[in-house]
Amino acid sequence: MSLAGWLGDLRVIASMARGLPGQGSAASQLASFYGPQAADYDRFREKLLHGRADLIAALQLGPGQRVIEFGAGTGRNVEYFRDQLDGLAQVDLIDLCAPLLEQAAQRFAGHPRVVLHRADATAWQPVEPAQRVYFSYALSMIPPWFAAIDNAEQALADDGLIGVVDFQVAPRGGSARGFRQGRLARHLWPLWFDHDGVRLSADLLPYLCHRFEPVLIRELQGPMPWMPGFKVPYFVFVGRKRRKES
Ligand SMILES: C[S@@+](CC[C@H](N)C(=O)[O-])C[C@H]1O[C@@H](n2cnc3c(N)ncnc32)[C@H](O)[C@@H]1O
Repeated sequence: MSLAGWLGDLRVIASMARGLPGQGSAASQLASFYGPQAADYDRFREKLLHGRADLIAALQLGPGQRVIEFGAGTGRNVEYFRDQLDGLAQVDLIDLCAPLLEQAAQRFAGHPRVVLHRADATAWQPVEPAQRVYFSYALSMIPPWFAAIDNAEQALADDGLIGVVDFQVAPRGGSARGFRQGRLARHLWPLWFDHDGVRLSADLLPYLCHRFEPVLIRELQGPMPWMPGFKVPYFVFVGRKRRKES
């Protein structure tokens, strides 16, 4: 890694060590946490936020679709389908954090298909429903994550797909698919991430399975940057809207 890369990582680690402030509105807390690390955000998160490319691939984006990312940050995930952008109807990127959205604005300056919205993922709604809606490591940073999922369900077209990739913690006794963690790991990671406003939940994946018909579920673990030998659990979920009972 170059010297600039090392220094950038140190800036990110310093922000993480300070943690998310406990006071102020959600938008101001996010701005003071992410502001000092915004320019270094993408490079560091390449090593931490696993499974994002897999999620985008599993969503099978196609021509004419409207796509929404809730909690989109710098818009990095759009790079995974940049070559398809011209064929899509529109990509809406929603986030509350001004410094990260500023990075996204630089990234997509003048691009006619990408529209940025500084808004809350628990409330923002599109003019027309979208065929693809996804969250990438955002629900664990949204305290009322169930409200964000319900809001996303409303934004999703009836024939659409929702995707989520996020950290998780295994429930006691293991998940429905047999994913388990040792007692130490089950307690260590939630404490570790909580300092940065990232709340690991064993309820997130079951709630997604309750609200949507699962199409794909993977429960995996990925390496932690700067912590050799440590692995953090995450999941990839793709689901479709459940039919309304008549
Ligand atoms: C860990 S970052 C993930 C960013 C991006 N999705 C990615 O994969 O790189 C979590 C994002 O959720 C955003 N966020 C947190 N609470 C939010 C809310 N209530 N509404 C919209 N965005 C929110 C943060 O500002 C941040 O950009």
